[in-house]
Amino acid sequence: MLAAYAARSSAHEPLSALEIGERPEPEPPAGWATVLLTTAGLNHHDVWSLRGVGLPPDRLPMILGCDGAGLDEDGNEVIVHAVIASDGWTGDETLDPRRTLLSELHDGTLAEKVAVPRANLVPKPSEMSWQTAACLSTAWLTAYRMLFTNAGLTPGATVLVQGAGGGVATALVQLGSAAGYRMWVTSRDEAKGAKAVDIGADRAFESGARLPERVDAVMETVGAATWSHSVNALNPGGTIVICGATSGDAPAKAELTKIFFKQLRVIGSTMGTRSELERLAKFVASQGIQPVIDSVFPLAGARDGFARLVDGEVFGKVVLTVA
Ligand SMILES: NC(=O)c1ccc[n+]([C@@H]2O[C@H](COP(=O)([O-])OP(=O)(O)OC[C@H]3O[C@@H](n4cnc5c(N)ncnc54)[C@H](OP(=O)(O)O)[C@@H]3O)[C@@H](O)[C@H]2O)c1
Repeated sequence: MLAAYAARSSAHEPLSALEIGERPEPEPPAGWATVLLTTAGLNHHDVWSLRGVGLPPDRLPMILGCDGAGLDEDGNEVIVHAVIASDGWTGDETLDPRRTLLSELHDGTLAEKVAVPRANLVPKPSEMSWQTAACLSTAWLTAYRMLFTNAGLTPGATVLVQGAGGGVATALVQLGSAAGYRMWVTSRDEAKGAKAVDIGADRAFESGARLPERVDAVMETVGAATWSHSVNALNPGGTIVICGATSGDAPAKAELTKIFFKQLRVIGSTMGTRSELERLAKFVASQGIQPVIDSVFPLAGARDGFARLVDGEVFGKVVLTVA
């Protein structure tokens, strides 16, 4: 079957590690199901994998991809949940120390077929398009858990999103504005800031700009480049929820004094549970939210989608059509 996979790793030239070609069909073990994919989505996680982060050489070649939607063996429309718990784990699978994401230990969704534990299939709401369904499993699920499980906010709160264009950032803006939060964004690019306002942000600021007032929570995906600004932007008692560090995880200042003096909460957040993915899908469908899609490519043209992510050009999700 056709697949986009990491054939090797390259820390500095991730596209050189990407191959698009034939891979063997999945052979699902007992309790697993095969999904015939209709659409799939790219995430920065796939670029990290090509760079060799979280994907050691002994696991190569590995089919990439954590986002996907398609038909199960009975023809049901499903969304794939990418967090794979270890055998015997019960409870919140994101807390399982041995959990993996699709494409870390098991082949991922950038293929004609993917095998996942049957419990990882989430019904796709019938009114939801395939392209929307392809956006939800990773960036959108992460944004959902950051905002609704980990930030401790109530409607009316002001939330700052660092970075405007990323898959997680655009999901945060669309979900937060639908839930009644006042969403502010920063961006290095004025045009991306303006687009964030078009999709529901209340205001957009230049990266690092002084804000007109302090905020209740900051959503961090950028890391080193924005960390000090995030700490300074918060009201006393405010919360930073961090799920990524695209610009590096060693900020020039850790800001420890400000963190304890202002009694800030710093909360790590990773992916979400199957039940959060199911609730996210229902919320997106019932609110009629259309995830911002940066671009759509056929699976065979996945390299162009990867290039957009590597170059940091994206505004929203990159979607692949498979069938
Ligand atoms: N923990 C988890 O479960 C989880 C899940 C999903 C994603 N993540 C992580 O979260 C991060 C974002 O993921 P994504 O898929 O949304 O990635 P992405 O689409 O590539 O987003 C990149 C974002 O980062 C901003 N950015 C990048 N470099 C920057 C810099 N030097 N200074 C300021 N802003 C910068 C960009 O904002 P502007 O261009 O608007 O300035 C853009 O919004 C990644 O590191 C990813 O690995 C973690």
